[in-house]
Parts: sequence; structure tokens; C-alpha cells
Amino acid sequence: MIRAGAVCLLPLALAACDQNMVQQPRYDPYEAAELFPDGQAMQPPPGGTIDLGTPARQAAAAAMPAIDEALLKRGRERYGIYCSMCHGEDGRGNGVVPSRGYPHPPSFLAPRLRAVADQHIFDVITEGYGVMYSYADRVPPADRWAIVAWIRVLQRAQQGDGDEA
Ligand code: HEC
Repeated sequence: MIRAGAVCLLPLALAACDQNMVQQPRYDPYEAAELFPDGQAMQPPPGGTIDLGTPARQAAAAAMPAIDEALLKRGRERYGIYCSMCHGEDGRGNGVVPSRGYPHPPSFLAPRLRAVADQHIFDVITEGYGVMYSYADRVPPADRWAIVAWIRVLQRAQQGDGDEA
């Protein structure tokens, strides 16, 4: 029975392959589409989608905003989410990921990293650095500055151990 059914279906399957490549079923922009609840082919991007190229985003990247409590709170939170697992809550580079064998990040308390420009830290988040990969798709520019501000807090609040590279 099953085999007979499969044989009957075969011509149908082959017919489906015989499509005219120029005329393929697809939706055009602004076309009605029953597939979606709002009946439109064009769907808004899902919530939380990060746009990589808008002027607003470029403006946010241009300069560090004024430092206030809200910026530091945001920076502390975002640092905790995206950086602390490697760089450690205190910035000394002893997060859980390097404790499992990933290369150790340098301590933010090292004299060289205390001395680098804010822009350098921003750029490391954007582009990555050495074995550290880019966070550009997860951390939008405004949050990058907030994280930079928080790293400055970690640096000012703590003495180094003296053996930082
Ligand atoms: C998966 C682990 C990991 C995560 C997560 C991570 N980093 Fe790193 N980071 C590293 C490592 C490892 C290095 C050293 C890279 C090298 O020298 O090859 C580094 C280096 C750096 C440096 C030093 C660059 C220099 O000039 O030496 C900065 C600044 C930095 N990271 C900032 C951040 C910030 C901010 C975040 C969060 C947005 C972050 N990192 C997330 C692993 C990580």
C-alpha cells in the first residue's frame, strides 16, 4: 500500500521541480499576504533588532555622552552581561571563561589600559581585539560608551596589584 502511494506521488514531486525559474512564487513589497496576521507581506523587524547603519546610531557613536548616574548604571549592567564573564566583575581579567582555558584578558588596572583613550575601548568593543571578537552586533554605540564609562569607574575605584601586564 505504502509503496503504491509513493509511486503515485512521484510524478507530483517531479512536477513540483519543473518550475519556471523566472516566475517563482514570492511576495512583492506592499503586497497583501494571508500568511501574516496583519495581512501584509512587509513585516516590521522583530523587537530588539539592532540596526547597524542609521544616522541615529552613527550620531550615538560620535562621542561619549555626559556621564551621569543613569549612564553608569547602564554601563555596569551591560558590562555584567557582555564583558564580566571574561574580564571579571572587577576588571582584573579573571572571569569564569578564562578560568576554563580561554586566553586571559589583560587587567583593566594595568597602566597601559588606564592610559588608553576612551575611544580605544569603544573601538575594541566595536571591532574586537586579538582573540576577543567584536560585540558590534550585540552592544549598540550608546551602550558601548556606557560600558567605557563603567570600566573607567573600575579603574578609578581600584589599585592595581602591581603585576599587571
Ligand atoms: C570571551 C571573552 C571576552 C569577552 C566576553 C570580552 N572580552 Fe575583552 N578581551 C578578551 C581577551 C582574551 C582579550 C585579549 C585579546 C588579545 O590581546 O588577543 C581582551 C581584550 C580587551 C581589551 C584590551 C585591548 C588592548 O588594548 O589590549 C579591552 C579594552 C576589552 N577587551 C574590552 C572588552 C569589553 C568592553 C567587553 C564587553 C563588551 C569585552 N572586552 C568582552 C576576552 C573577552
